Amino acid sequence: MIITIDGPAGTGKSTCAIRLAEKINFIYFDTGALYRAICLFAINSKINIDCKDSLKKLVSRFKFQIKEINKVPHYFVNDIDVTNEIRSPQLTLQVSKFASLETVRNALKPIQYDFGKNCNSIFDGRDLGTAIFPEADIKFFLTASSYIRAERRHQELITKFPDKRVTFEQTLSDINQRDYQDSTRTCAPLKKAHDAIEIDTTTKTIEEVVGLMEKYYIEVITHKTKGK
Ligand code: DC
Repeated sequence: MIITIDGPAGTGKSTCAIRLAEKINFIYFDTGALYRAICLFAINSKINIDCKDSLKKLVSRFKFQIKEINKVPHYFVNDIDVTNEIRSPQLTLQVSKFASLETVRNALKPIQYDFGKNCNSIFDGRDLGTAIFPEADIKFFLTASSYIRAERRHQELITKFPDKRVTFEQTLSDINQRDYQDSTRTCAPLKKAHDAIEIDTTTKTIEEVVGLMEKYYIEVITHKTKGK
């Protein structure tokens, strides 16, 4: 079974996906980490992303792995642990542009398909319910006001990167810019799948959102079992 959770940054996708996966014993895949990882790889490789040939060579050399260390997922690019680096504010600013490239999106598809093969999994990102798994069993689309999303992201950033002195205003402006880039790109833009369940998380706690998701999951499972 595949569950997809899409939506803009700061809506609580990852936190809710992790909690739901723990509760219903599914495997969780944060596809944002994949886009961040390939973006970092491109920056470190110093390639010109406007050159199609360089980009093709780059994606062919990209090897991505997830390993659990002390129950925390760690992300590896060609055997180097990039878990912390991919969350830096500088990288966050650049990843949207990179994620809009068709060559990149196409190269990352098989990695996502492989992960979803033969296991019950929850994927979170922007295009899971529309482009990657249009046949997913359950699709959620999370929303929240940009102000509250920026507040959540800002808290996260000052905790993780206290020396970077990121302001709330900067975080809000970055979130708005990223939303715009993610939802207006031509290739697999951020949008709600027609059959996705929309949850506005602005005034909800994580427990409330996860509770709603679990309730829906149980309804689907019950319905499937009765249909057999
Ligand atoms: O969810 P996140 O902030 O870690 O995502 C990082 C970037 O990757 C963001 O700009 C959107 C992009 N992304 C995407 O285009 N498609 C996905 N499935 C996941 C993320």
